[in-house]
Amino acid sequence: MVEITLPKNSRPTEGKTWPSKPGAKNEREFRVYRWNPDDANNPRIDTYKVDLDDCGPMVLDALIWIKSKIDPTLTFRRSCREGVCGSCAMNIDGVNTLACTRGMDEIKGAVKIYPLPHQPVVKDLVPDLTNFYTQYASTEPWLKTTTPMPQKEWKQSEDDRKKLDGLYECILCACCTTSCPSYWWNGDRYLGPAALLQAGRWLKDSRDEATGERLDFLEDPFRLYRCHTILNCSKACPKGLNPAKEIADIKKMMVERQV
Ligand code: SF4
Ligand code: SF4
Ligand code: FES
Repeated sequence: MVEITLPKNSRPTEGKTWPSKPGAKNEREFRVYRWNPDDANNPRIDTYKVDLDDCGPMVLDALIWIKSKIDPTLTFRRSCREGVCGSCAMNIDGVNTLACTRGMDEIKGAVKIYPLPHQPVVKDLVPDLTNFYTQYASTEPWLKTTTPMPQKEWKQSEDDRKKLDGLYECILCACCTTSCPSYWWNGDRYLGPAALLQAGRWLKDSRDEATGERLDFLEDPFRLYRCHTILNCSKACPKGLNPAKEIADIKKMMVERQV
C-alpha cells in the first residue's frame, strides 16, 4: 500500500497566480487547491484564468484545459467524461459533485475547486479513497447463494428487479460519504452512505440468500447506527440517489427481523 503523507496544515495559503493565455478575451477565474508531497508550500490555492472561447462548458473541460495549456503539474482523476465512472468527484463551489457533469454556467464568480473533504490527499485534487473502497468490499457486494446453481441463470421477476432501482445506479464516486458529518468523525468505523447503499442493494436482491449474515455484519453501533439522518448524502449524490432512505430501510429490516 502506498504510504500517504497528510497535509500538516489544512488551511491553504495564497499560491501562485498563473498568467493568462496571450490574446484571451473571454476569461473565467479558477481557484484550485494544490497539495504536493514533494513541495514545502502546502497546501495552497493557485489561481488560473481559463479562455472560455477555447474550452468546453464543463468544469472538467476547464481542468483539462489548465493542465494541457498552462500547468501540466495540476493533478486530478477523470476517465469517462460522462458521469459514469465516478472518478472526477471533487468539491466544486462548496458542493461535492462530478466535474464532468457540472457546467461552469451553474456557478457564479470564481470557480473554487477542492478535493473531496475529510480524506487524506494524495496530490492536488486526488483524495486517498483506500478506506472507502475497503469499506465497500467489507459489505461483500456480490450475489451469495446456498442453493445449487441453476442450469441457466438465477431468475428474477420484473417486480423484484424493480426493487433494485435507485441502488444499482451508484457509481461509487464517494460524493455522499465524504459529505456526511458522521463519516467525517467516525470514518474508521462507520461504513458511510455509499457502502450502506450498496449493502442495501444486496439485501434487496430477491436472488441473494445471505440476508441474515449481511444483517448480522451491519448490526453494530458504528457500522450502521452512526447515521443520524442528516441527509447531506442524498443532497450530494450527483446521480440523484437517496442513500439516507436506504439506510433507513436497512434499520427497518433490523427491527422487523427481531419481532
Ligand atoms: S443521512 Fe446518515 S449517511 Fe446521510 S449524511 Fe446524514 S448521517 Fe450521513
Ligand atoms: S450514492 Fe450517489 S454520491 Fe454516493 S457513491 Fe453512489 S453515486 Fe456517488
Ligand atoms: S470522468 Fe467519469 S464521472 Fe466524471
